[in-house]
Amino acid sequence: MAEFALPANSKLKPSGKTWPASTGAKNIKEFKVYRWNPDDGQNPRMDSYQVDIDTCGPMVLDALIKIKNEIDPTLTFRRSCREGVCGSCSMNIDGTNGLACTKAIEDCVSKAVSITPLPHMEVIKDLVPDFKHFYAQYASIKPWLQTSTPTPSGVERLQSKEEREKIDGLYECILCACCSTSCPSYWWNGDKYLGPAILLQAYRWLADSRDENTGERLDDLEDPFRLYRCHTIMNCANACPKGLNPAKAIGEIKKMMIERQL
Ligand code: SF4
Ligand code: F3S
Ligand code: FES
Repeated sequence: MAEFALPANSKLKPSGKTWPASTGAKNIKEFKVYRWNPDDGQNPRMDSYQVDIDTCGPMVLDALIKIKNEIDPTLTFRRSCREGVCGSCSMNIDGTNGLACTKAIEDCVSKAVSITPLPHMEVIKDLVPDFKHFYAQYASIKPWLQTSTPTPSGVERLQSKEEREKIDGLYECILCACCSTSCPSYWWNGDKYLGPAILLQAYRWLADSRDENTGERLDDLEDPFRLYRCHTIMNCANACPKGLNPAKAIGEIKKMMIERQL
């Protein structure tokens, strides 16, 4: 997995508070966690928590939950499914974007595991980034089936097995934003560039044989920023915790743009 710089957080003072593990703990792992509370007027800081690994579940999310339950209830982060399907626990763990619920503590090799919000997202509090802009970009690609022919009566809109296979590698996206927030183009131009996650979603509908609005979908993407700010940097493909390849999807959209001009 690629490592990414942490422009938003790297100048933070390394230490805020230090929270020791409970007495008698033998197997301790240190977690340095980004803390920021918009209500206290203080600068962001990194707090250090010592967690007894022998009494903790195996994943980084388990450590965060243990910290919140047993050490510091003020720590704030998102999570829901705990099995890599909701995308809500995406964060930067030891310099790599990923899901806290599928990242094993034993795979975190550094002595003190650093945990920060996804890079280049506005932060609401602690590890919770603001997804408003990301979701607005998602809505802008109209992520639903668009048709002009009448709905067949009594049957679904059918696909052949081959047509259905064309959306494999696309429909599995959980919109965690690990890819977009690893993309330097998205860091610098995220206001206008859609980024890898949203472009993969856009291609998911372009590749769907049942959708009948391909032309307009391509028109909406034909823009120097929305699509063409992808410079094939490829961080996105390395970052995706679901093993998807947004760079490939973006390449397919660019191919469709050329093909329709021939
Ligand atoms: Fe997350 Fe992968 Fe979807 Fe990007 S493509 S939003 S990294 S699941
Ligand atoms: Fe960014 Fe991936 Fe393109 S990292 S520049 S979206 S190939
Ligand atoms: Fe759902 Fe991690 S909690 S993906």
